[in-house]
Amino acid sequence: MRKPLISGNWKMNLNHFEAIQVVQKLAYLVGKDDLEQADVSLHPPFTDIRSVQTVIDSDRLGFALGAQNCHWEEKGAFTGEVSPVFLQKLGVRYVIAGHSERRELFGETDEMVNSKVKAVIAHAMTPIMCCGETLAEREAGSTEAKVLGQVRAGLAGVKPAQVAAMVIAYEPIWAIGTGRTATSADAQAVCAAIRTCVREVAGADAAHQVRIQYGGSVKAGNIAELIGQDDIDGALVGGASLDADEFARICKLGR
Ligand code: PGA
Repeated sequence: MRKPLISGNWKMNLNHFEAIQVVQKLAYLVGKDDLEQADVSLHPPFTDIRSVQTVIDSDRLGFALGAQNCHWEEKGAFTGEVSPVFLQKLGVRYVIAGHSERRELFGETDEMVNSKVKAVIAHAMTPIMCCGETLAEREAGSTEAKVLGQVRAGLAGVKPAQVAAMVIAYEPIWAIGTGRTATSADAQAVCAAIRTCVREVAGADAAHQVRIQYGGSVKAGNIAELIGQDDIDGALVGGASLDADEFARICKLGR
């Protein structure tokens, strides 16, 4: 059984004071029994990570610390970038790689995403590698070509056992922050195609174990149906993760 992973991607929202408040509220709302049903990771902006780590550690909370991005090099002349070494040192467990906003707004290529995935793994953290199609690509019938192309490129040179431990997030770009969610059947179909693709590149064990999240306007009201699909093993949640009450209900898988 793949344990679901619910990840809150706060994007460029919540300063470190606000972040602490959200984590403390979540700690009150999401209990140990909930965390037995689903793993939960929190992905604050870089400037909040140390504060969130302190709350998680001092209150012994069951949330995993996450980051939204990292560079692939360990150190050097890369002004403005953050090393995976620094993230590991802070206790970060999950790092998002290749979010569509990074690809579209900041020019990340498949090759860069692949380098990030490898760097995250090399530093004993888990990548959440994102993929997804635009509305134009969906309407042109090229959803699978786009998504599976990103998956193949992102996994190039990653060992099967490492792929098995990864997370892949399928996020149709037209559903991110728009209130439009892919139907659960559509999301399931693409996630199943991703799993088949993983089987081709990394073998049956990796395909069986890799966790595939859906992302794009996930809310408390649609998580149960999404998570009920065979190949959807969790959710990458943006807007709804900023509200502790709403996100707590998502962490409880809509129960
Ligand atoms: P959303 O964002 O839940 O606000 O649609 C999802 C994401 O971009 O990770």
